[in-house]
Amino acid sequence: MAYKDMREFLARLESLGQLKRVATPLKAGRGDNELQALMRHLATTNGPGLILENLEDYNTPSIPVIFNPFGTRERTALTLETHDPLEAKHKHTAILTDRARWHEPNIVDRSQAPCKDVVIQSKDISLDKQLPHLWLGKEGSSYITGGVVVTRDPETGARNVGWYRMTQLWECLHPTGGSYSEERQKKQLSVFAFWNPPMNHIGLHLAKAAAMGKPLEIAIACQCDPAVHVAAGTAVPFGLDEFAFAGGLRGSPVDLVKCESVDLEVPATAEFVIEGVFNLPVQEETIGWHSNSVGYYDKLQIFPVFDVTAITHRKDPLWYATIEMMPPFDHNYLALLPVEGELLSDLQRKIPEVNDVVVTPNMTYIVQLKVDGATKPHPEFGKFVLHAVWGAAGRWGRTAKLVIVVGPDVDPYDLTAVEWAIGSRVQPWSDTIINRSGQAMVLDPSAVKGPQGFPMTSEQMGIDATIKIPERFTDFAEVSQADPADVAKIAEKLRDVLG
Ligand SMILES: Cc1cc2nc3c(=O)[nH]c(=O)nc-3n(C[C@H](O)[C@H](O)[C@H](O)COP(=O)(O)O)c2cc1C
Repeated sequence: MAYKDMREFLARLESLGQLKRVATPLKAGRGDNELQALMRHLATTNGPGLILENLEDYNTPSIPVIFNPFGTRERTALTLETHDPLEAKHKHTAILTDRARWHEPNIVDRSQAPCKDVVIQSKDISLDKQLPHLWLGKEGSSYITGGVVVTRDPETGARNVGWYRMTQLWECLHPTGGSYSEERQKKQLSVFAFWNPPMNHIGLHLAKAAAMGKPLEIAIACQCDPAVHVAAGTAVPFGLDEFAFAGGLRGSPVDLVKCESVDLEVPATAEFVIEGVFNLPVQEETIGWHSNSVGYYDKLQIFPVFDVTAITHRKDPLWYATIEMMPPFDHNYLALLPVEGELLSDLQRKIPEVNDVVVTPNMTYIVQLKVDGATKPHPEFGKFVLHAVWGAAGRWGRTAKLVIVVGPDVDPYDLTAVEWAIGSRVQPWSDTIINRSGQAMVLDPSAVKGPQGFPMTSEQMGIDATIKIPERFTDFAEVSQADPADVAKIAEKLRDVLG
């Protein structure tokens, strides 16, 4: 059964022993590093999700903070109601490619919308008190990381929903010694538009609005049913509605409610909703340091800011905090599931021999085939697949800096097995491709920045780790490995001794 909201998802985790409540005081102020250290500890120990109930140096102590809910592949799969990561990916892929399975959202009355329990109107906005502020690592700003962001195409009216981070200006440290006025700190937020080329969709909406001379309205729904977050984290083709895709993922429509101050709709069961408008000319703000998903601090970033026009929230709301840092970190797998699903659906449409795509937290792309050696459809089939990844539709495949293609006997989730395939099936000169003009993953600090301030092109490497029949051999040595069924049998036989 679909989750109604984030609370039902958390209750499911708790019932499985995958969520714990923490009453121990933890420091959340700027300059304290306890929460980043906690993130590292949880990520390296496959730790549970947490509800942090006792944060210090925190402006809203009555609002508990959800931490690390998505920190494993299994918990990420649970967002789509299965324990099995492969099943979750196949569900995501199947629904993404079959719009007949999408459900248009349903508009409900505000009386049925818990997100309207408390309404704060424009004249009363004071973000220092009304939004939680907490710091992880050395970031200059406190972040809003649990928000799905709704805008409409100013030309067509088509809705977009994307999961983007927002920075709060309140008590934000200015990276170049400047300052943010108190008025702006209390009334404005900045959003990470324009991140990965060819721009995220809010970036396209904003660029269009500016060109048309129209302000752009925005609504941010924080902590929703996790299927909504998965949909918002997916690069659904421009012009299509992620809420309808989320309806497909959850098997029933998402309930939306009209906003207070803007002509947009948001999930009725969100914990918090922030409404606002990018006025013209669009103002920009310099923010930094900013900890990124590649694992480095950007000294500064320049992002557009909007005026907050209303905030609504549930009674006793929950907040969510995470940090992007050297992987792995909490939402790695949740962000990667849509990347895997998007690429897998594109490759399978064109190349039925593709079985699976696994993207590691450090963004190595591993493509597993259903065929290998003599069953490959043609010589150099592995290289054909490498090029297909870089030429895939969608945002991500083209930015894959390292791609490895393996056969069906190599588990793509097991990096030791992948390394074994590279070590025993690859001749480095003959079986690799260096693509010297790939599209950059813009946060990669090893790629040279262009005049825009971020890299547009990057060198890329593809490794064909398939068996080189017919290219080089007519047969290949048999693998010396135990049958998994025999392994299970012997483990059972010696269970008393081995546990
Ligand atoms: C927690 C989280 C934070 C993210 N932050 C950003 C961000 O700040 N900017 C961005 O462009 N993408 C970000 N992403 C990735 C986007 O959600 C993803 O690329 C999505 O497809 C964007 O939606 P769009 O295709 O409608 O633009 C984030 C993903 C997650 C899971």
